[in-house]
Amino acid sequence: MPVQDLNDKLILKHPKGASAEVLLYGATVTSWKTGGNSNPEPLERLFLSSKAVLDGSKAVRGGIPVVFPCFGAPTHPDHKNLSQHGFARSELWKWDGVVMDNEAGVSVRLVLEPSQKISAIYPKPFRLSYVVTLAEHQLSTDLHVTNTSFSEQFEFQALFHNYIRAPSDSLFVTPLQGLQYKDKTDDSLQGLKTEGRSGVDVKKFTDSVYTNASQSYTVTWPGGEISIRSQNLKDVVIWNPQAEAGGKMGDMEEGGWERFVCVEPGYVDGFENVAAGSTWSGGQVLTIN
Ligand code: BG6
Repeated sequence: MPVQDLNDKLILKHPKGASAEVLLYGATVTSWKTGGNSNPEPLERLFLSSKAVLDGSKAVRGGIPVVFPCFGAPTHPDHKNLSQHGFARSELWKWDGVVMDNEAGVSVRLVLEPSQKISAIYPKPFRLSYVVTLAEHQLSTDLHVTNTSFSEQFEFQALFHNYIRAPSDSLFVTPLQGLQYKDKTDDSLQGLKTEGRSGVDVKKFTDSVYTNASQSYTVTWPGGEISIRSQNLKDVVIWNPQAEAGGKMGDMEEGGWERFVCVEPGYVDGFENVAAGSTWSGGQVLTIN
């Protein structure tokens, strides 16, 4: 069976050895194992904190949480009752079936629609559908945001909070040089900085929101490389809390920040909007090179 339903999570398996796990809580991808061209053995490619809470009582610390409809603390009046990064990552999604199952890969779709609990804090008529596709060396995620209203548009932000497993003391993210970014590590900083580095490292606490980026990024480290391509997600956040901020997180394993970098394609600078009766789609493809 290419897809196993374990009630609280789905396990996807590819005939060439790759696998992925998707928790219905938050539609969070919690594991992605695949080999690369230089090393055919399936290895874990995402970081999941050993202290992550997986029982549905708290957003998952690791994997790929889905951020919607607000990034960070809410700034839009429609989002005023929401918590950091919105509700999508901390609601139970429904498995809506297998979308594809062939030589190329296996895909599943999860959906999230307003419940009483969601409508109480976010009274917009919407339907989210999320497709996770596993191929031999690739994992893709596609988010579709449908506005089910007959008359009114709504505005939102969306982001894939990828925790990429890689040694944080020796990795570089490219190409970000020349882009403008907001440095969130220091609240007192006003305005945007311009990235001068040809390769961005995360040896220090890093929380940078790059705007209007290339939508094609590479993370390299000695012996490894992963590429991340996105569609309709013009911004990218690079985050690593290091001990400075990671040490204060109850669900971060000791030294966890040494084992990942978050490279998060999103639409987070300003707001995307979706007209009544329309659907917006944004996606990404992660590839082991
Ligand atoms: C990043 C934000 O995307 O997520 C950071 O830019 C934030 O500011 C980080 O600290 C983790 O957020 P959370 O809510 O999962 O602790």
